[in-house]
Amino acid sequence: MSTLLGNEIHVFLVGPGGVGKELLHQIQETKPEIRVVGLGNSRFMHFDPNGIDLDSWETLIADEPMSLDGFIERMVSLHLDNSVFVDCTSSEAVAATYATILQSHISVVTPNKKANSGPFSTYLELQNLSEDVKFLYDANVGAGLPIIHTIQTLRRAGDQVIKIEAILSGTLSYLFNTYDGSLPFSTIVRHAQRKGYTEPDPSEDLNGMDMARKFLILAREAGYALERSDIDILPFLPESCFDAPTVEEFYQRLADYDEQLSYLVKDAADKGAKYRFIGTLEDGRATLSLKAIGPDHPFYHISGTDNIAAITSRNYPKSPVVIKGPGAGATVTAAAVLANIVQN
Ligand SMILES: NC(=O)c1ccc[n+]([C@@H]2O[C@H](COP(=O)([O-])OP(=O)(O)OC[C@H]3O[C@@H](n4cnc5c(N)ncnc54)[C@H](OP(=O)(O)O)[C@@H]3O)[C@@H](O)[C@H]2O)c1
Repeated sequence: MSTLLGNEIHVFLVGPGGVGKELLHQIQETKPEIRVVGLGNSRFMHFDPNGIDLDSWETLIADEPMSLDGFIERMVSLHLDNSVFVDCTSSEAVAATYATILQSHISVVTPNKKANSGPFSTYLELQNLSEDVKFLYDANVGAGLPIIHTIQTLRRAGDQVIKIEAILSGTLSYLFNTYDGSLPFSTIVRHAQRKGYTEPDPSEDLNGMDMARKFLILAREAGYALERSDIDILPFLPESCFDAPTVEEFYQRLADYDEQLSYLVKDAADKGAKYRFIGTLEDGRATLSLKAIGPDHPFYHISGTDNIAAITSRNYPKSPVVIKGPGAGATVTAAAVLANIVQN
């Protein structure tokens, strides 16, 4: 393996799934200075201080049974310079190890939003621990679109975030970008599910919880000490949809609401407006709700599953900074993780 002497970064990756596997591929293709020295999934782990051969990691990994504590002990005991722990799982247990790892002077990079969207005290602890070593998580929101990075950069320059508006769910974005009332809303949701844009149970996307967790992270990055319970979600569907015992029952209950939604959307269209499910942070209050917006709003023209954020700050008071692009996908997410690794 060729390396740039003195510039090696030692990566310990947990979670070579969709994003993690793509990350290994991108490292192999583009980053000779990165040595992957530890790999673990939910079942196995494998270490090689000289660098794991990335052509055959899938067979090499079945080396010893995975133990999270054992993985961290081994990583710490190797004492390698420029070590980075990369968490590409969605596990709470893995997220709960970040403080210990940072205290061991090893940086942490992750797309896993469990730690940053948990209690504010955990968020703050990790921020405080990341002064000498880095804790980087650009891919927590918008699959690594530079939303977190932009807020951090503005604040680092002494700017103050006044308002954030954002659509941070590819599913909710797609539904309202596609739905114009000509087909029933429940049919549009079925189409989205068939295209793989929703969770197996689409009510998990439509309840806004996942977007609320991402929006909470943005609010914290903007300087607000909010908890998850401080994010007001104003659901656009009745509670009965979310209590449905099966996915098919969910669709039936959703269909009962088709006519009402169709009226709402057509009425807005008559007035030149479109509905979007938007997170808004203003005056320290964070709300997720369906909003009718006109053509002068930056979210009026988005399409497909795009994510978007508009940040108004003291230095950008009239025209917000707008960041828009794909909000999901292993390639873009892994690229954002990789960018954070080389920032170490
Ligand atoms: N996919 C996207 O577009 C996207 C976008 C933004 C952020 N993210 C975030 O990126 C992370 C990874 O997503 P993904 O789609 O790649 O997930 P995934 O395909 O389900 O892969 C998860 C990986 O984590 C491993 N894992 C799970 N629990 C573990 C544990 N306790 N200890 C060790 N390994 C464990 C799994 O091991 P096994 O192989 O043994 O099951 C698997 O390798 C998630 O936090 C997700 O929210 C994903």
